Amino acid sequence: MSTSAPMTIDTARLQMSWAVAAQYGDQVPLFFYSRLFVAHPGLRDMFPLSMEAQRDKLVTALGSVVSGVDDLPAVAPVLEQLGRDHRRFAVVRDHYPAVGDALLATLEHFLADRAAGREDHHIATLDRRRPEGSRGGAT
Ligand code: HEM
Repeated sequence: MSTSAPMTIDTARLQMSWAVAAQYGDQVPLFFYSRLFVAHPGLRDMFPLSMEAQRDKLVTALGSVVSGVDDLPAVAPVLEQLGRDHRRFAVVRDHYPAVGDALLATLEHFLADRAAGREDHHIATLDRRRPEGSRGGAT
């Protein structure tokens, strides 16, 4: 796959899609973590027994990244800090495809009622944003 073409993202549609999914509240992280742990049971032990706080943290983090996506200089430090925190949680690069797949499946699930063709394009766009080397099969 070529990496030379500049990447553009329709941020307004990203925000609209997230707003639709976010209306489902706690169902969104519940679906996400269920997908993640069914597909990758080994990851469950990395997380606390009670996932209640974690579910909120995930949704808050995703929400603030999506809200700030038009102001990348403001969002970048937040992401960098999150990345550093994840080293502390023993997260490595190879874990990201599993999380990316679960996230895409979650968006697909909650946006299924929307016009399928349009959202498919959007999900494919998100997929291309994943770091080089983290695409493809889950670990
Ligand atoms: C879309 C990418 C991701 C986002 C937005 C995200 C978000 C978050 C947030 C906001 C926290 C809470 C941080 C804190 O308490 O200070 C967290 C914790 C954590 N994340 Fe992620 N994460 C992502 C990717 C991953 C990946 C790839 C893994 C690997 C399995 C992972 C595993 C964990 C673990 C183990 C914790 C700590 C749970 C705990 O002990 O309380 N995350 N994540």
